[in-house]
Amino acid sequence: MLKLGVNIDHVATLRQARYKGKPKGEPDPIEAALICESAGAHGITAHLREDRRHIVDRDVFTLREVIKTRFNLEMANSPEIVEIALKAKPDIVCLVPEKREEVTTEGGLDVVTHEKSLAETVRRLRGQGIEVSFFVAPDIAQIEASARAGAQFVELHTGSFADSYHRKRERNEELNRLVLASNKARDLGMQVNAGHGLNYQNLQLLHLVPNLVELNIGHSIISRSVVVGLATAVKEMLALMENYAATEVV
Ligand code: PXP
Repeated sequence: MLKLGVNIDHVATLRQARYKGKPKGEPDPIEAALICESAGAHGITAHLREDRRHIVDRDVFTLREVIKTRFNLEMANSPEIVEIALKAKPDIVCLVPEKREEVTTEGGLDVVTHEKSLAETVRRLRGQGIEVSFFVAPDIAQIEASARAGAQFVELHTGSFADSYHRKRERNEELNRLVLASNKARDLGMQVNAGHGLNYQNLQLLHLVPNLVELNIGHSIISRSVVVGLATAVKEMLALMENYAATEVV
């Protein structure tokens, strides 16, 4: 069964717009996480950014306490954030690149260039029983470097697929890259997640990508929740994921 991890960062973005620096405020990302779980989500994802623009430290520790499914902490490979992860002990850490000026995570992790320092972080996290995923572009060299660095999962960056959705030829090329990368990751013994830019429209085509374990989806679900409510938004997404067959379509 294809699992859904809901990224709740945007709930925190809305809270920070009014309550930055305050000990609490609405909407509460913790309450949102619990609604997502009740609606059937298989996990909750939150990104603790170095500038704390949405999720803040107390969210991470409270999520760890209250979540009954899986807690996926997205983060950069920076010493301060790695220490927080080692203390909070999420079920899984997804290492992502991070630039202060970006609106959202823009590219995949450059594992080829930073293999040594990433491998050291993997070693420390895994030493505490935390699984590790790398958020990477569907690029064979990055997949191979991820396996060498000890990642148990890769999360394939679907942003280029989502961006090219309305340009058929480009989109099919992106889908093909995702298929090849997914098979490579599986052959190297890693599990495969995917995320970024996935929505109620483009999800159907992602069914062509084999081996997927979990999708991490944020913006489209939180946006739709404004109109239909969070539980319904999550259930609608789960329904679109229901008939996913993990094996290759020939
Ligand atoms: N996966 C990763 C690694 C991300 O950085 C993000 C964005 O925070 C997502 C998934 C979710 O992307 P979106 O909000 O576009 O669904």
